Amino acid sequence: MKAFIALPSLFLLALPLFGAPPAGAQAPTPAMTPAEAYQRGCAECHRRESSVLRAIPARPEAERRAWIERFMAQHPCACDEARPLIVDYLLERTRR
Ligand code: HEC
Repeated sequence: MKAFIALPSLFLLALPLFGAPPAGAQAPTPAMTPAEAYQRGCAECHRRESSVLRAIPARPEAERRAWIERFMAQHPCACDEARPLIVDYLLERTRR
C-alpha cells in the first residue's frame, strides 16, 4: 500500500528532469535577432542607423533587397555570418 502512495511523488520529482530542453538541440551558430546582426556587423561604424536607412532607395521590396545585397558586397561588414540577417533587418526597417 505504501508503494502506491510513493509512486506519484516520485513521478513529480522526475518531471523537471524530462521537462528541461535536451542539451545540444540548438543550432550550431549562436542565434541572433536581425537587430543584433546589425549591431555586430555595422554598428561599430554606423551607430546611428538613420543615415544607413536613408541611403536605401524607396523601391519595392525585391529591388531594395537587390540594392542592399549589391551595396554590402563591396562594403565592410564586421560579422560575415550576420550578413543575411542584416539584409532582413534593413528591409524590415525601410518598409513603408
Ligand atoms: C569599418 C567601418 C564600416 C563598417 C563595419 C560598415 N560601414 Fe557603412 N560606411 C562606412 C563609411 C566610412 C561610410 C562613408 C564613406 C563611404 O561612403 O564609403 C559608410 C557608408 C555607408 C552607407 C552610405 C550612406 C552613408 O551613411 O554614407 C551605407 C548605406 C552603409 N555604409 C551601410 C553599411 C551597412 C549596412 C553595414 C553593415 C553590414 C556597414 N555599412 C558597415 C564604414 C563602415
